[in-house]
Formats: sequence, structure tokens, C-alpha cells
Amino acid sequence: MVQLSTKIGSLELKNPVMTASGTFGYGTEYADFMDISRLGAIIVKGTTLAPRQGNPYPRMAETPSGMLNAVGLQNKGVDYFVDHIYPEVQKIGTAIIVNVSGSCIDDYVQTASIINTLDGIPAIELNISCPNVKQGGMAFGVNPESAAQVVSAVRKAYDKTLIVKLSPNVTDITEIARAVEGAGADSVSLINTMLGMAIDAEKRRPILSTVTGGMSGPAVKPVALRMVWQTAKAVKIPVIGLGGICSATDAIEFLLAGASAIQIGTANFIDPSISEKVVDGIADYLERHGFNSVQDIIGALQV
Ligand SMILES: Cc1cc2nc3c(=O)[nH]c(=O)nc-3n(C[C@H](O)[C@H](O)[C@H](O)COP(=O)(O)O)c2cc1C
Repeated sequence: MVQLSTKIGSLELKNPVMTASGTFGYGTEYADFMDISRLGAIIVKGTTLAPRQGNPYPRMAETPSGMLNAVGLQNKGVDYFVDHIYPEVQKIGTAIIVNVSGSCIDDYVQTASIINTLDGIPAIELNISCPNVKQGGMAFGVNPESAAQVVSAVRKAYDKTLIVKLSPNVTDITEIARAVEGAGADSVSLINTMLGMAIDAEKRRPILSTVTGGMSGPAVKPVALRMVWQTAKAVKIPVIGLGGICSATDAIEFLLAGASAIQIGTANFIDPSISEKVVDGIADYLERHGFNSVQDIIGALQV
């Protein structure tokens, strides 16, 4: 049997396969399709201090090889999570990571400190890269100083594993990665969606109510892979890779590029049991190539 376990900060995962925030609900919605306890981790929906309705419809558009979304962090707020969702997700039997968003530094800090009190949540993923909200979100993640500021404020309030999710909508992602590493992040995950837009030519109007939205899916994979490879060389903390992963082969490419774990997002909408297949596919690959452990292929790309 090959070893699939991997470490993100002090958090040990049974395998490197996680599901990406906003694409897998709270995990329990997928229990009819697969054994969700087999996942390395489930990253739940973006959670904010106060409830958010999200953006007006339409907030999804299809594109060739991907999709655009402008959901805008619809969620019932952190108190609802604590009272109603936490008791359920704790029973799943895998690591549950909460994706935290905010409109200002204090929002992030307050939400993180509430999650810090939950013994069954070993990590948060700080979303400083959402392109779909007017205030906060991506604004923090596209500048090294503001990225470091929000991370160091949260670091003081949160003492478990702190993952920071980076935006691809920057010139040099390694600058931001180094800034958040310096501010106390235990890991970085990348990429969030890429800013894009869609137009209805007949109506001469944008398709999304917000005009622009976040692009995800297979089309973004080459960009994500490049950014993961660059970032893994630039920082010492573990990198979590995502963006367009649809198969075990895609996942293995991110591991070879230097990711210590991966996340599956848009592909969950195409095949709701894809993440379990990716776990098995990584194990098959390791066996076929004579590796004992997934650690043997992390960063093993020969350039
Ligand atoms: C419908 C939808 C909702 C999303 N919501 C969030 C969110 O709440 N927080 C977050 O950090 N990322 C969110 N994302 C971004 C994904 O987690 C992921 O970073 C991105 O889609 C790229 O991965 P993929 O190509 O595998 O989907 C969302 C993506 C989609 C498609």
C-alpha cells in the first residue's frame, strides 16, 4: 500500500485531495455520490461575519472549457455555521477547513477568532482573492502590503493552521506569497478564479449582473500550474494547488510542480464523485511508477 498522507503546517491529511471552497457546499450534500470521509479535507463555502445574500442573478455563465461565476460569497454568516453546520460536518470523519472572507480586516479577525474556538476545525483558508465582491476580497490579495496586513492581524487571533488563498489576478504571485509567508501564514493555496467577462451579443449586454466574474475550470489550469510551480520555488511553506483539476493526472501535475496538496473545484459540478476518483488515481500512479509515498513526487518535476 502506498502512503498518501501529507502535511499542511501542523495539519496532517490522510491524502492530498481536498475539495475547493464554494464548489462542494458543506460536503454533506455530496454524501450520496461518494464516501466523503475518504477526502483529505473538505474546504467549506466562503464564510463571513454577517450573513450575505450574494450578488443578483444572473451570476453564472458558461465558457468554453470553464465557467464564470459571480456568486459573491452568499452564506448565512459565521454564527449560523457554528450553531447549525459545525455539529453536522464534525461527524464526516475528515478534516474540515473553513474558508473565511471579509470586507475589512476586522471582519476577517472576528470571524477567524470565532472559528478558533471550534475544536473540530483544524484550519482556516483566508480568502483574500474573491473577485466578486465590491469591498475587501480580492482588494487585499493583489497588493503585498495589504495582504501581509490582513494575514498578520488574523495570525494574532488564530492559532491553528492558517492557509491563505491567493489571487491569480496579479503580475507576480510570488511577491504576494512571500509577503503572506512573512506575515505568519502556514500555507498558501492558489489559484482563486481569474477575472473575466461574458457578453450577450444579441442583447448587447453583459451576461453577469456584476459585468465581470471569476473564471474557473480546465481553461485556467495552465495558468494555475505555472503559478504553483513559481510559488513553490519562492516560499518555504507548503503550497496547495488548484485551478482546473479534473482528473488524477491533472492533480499529479500540480504535485510534481511542487504542491503538497491539491483542491478540486469546478470539476465537482461535472462529476460529483470526481474527488474520490482522484484519490484512487493518485494511488494507482504511485504504484505504477514504483513510489512508496506521495511525498516522493511532490516537487519532483525534472526541468
Ligand atoms: C461557484 C463557485 C463559488 C466559489 N466560491 C468560493 C468561495 O466562497 N471562496 C473561495 O475562496 N473560492 C471560491 N471559489 C473559487 C474556487 O474555490 C477555486 O479557487 C476556483 O474555482 C479555481 O478552481 P477550479 O478551476 O478547480 O474550479 C468559487 C468557485 C466557484 C466556481
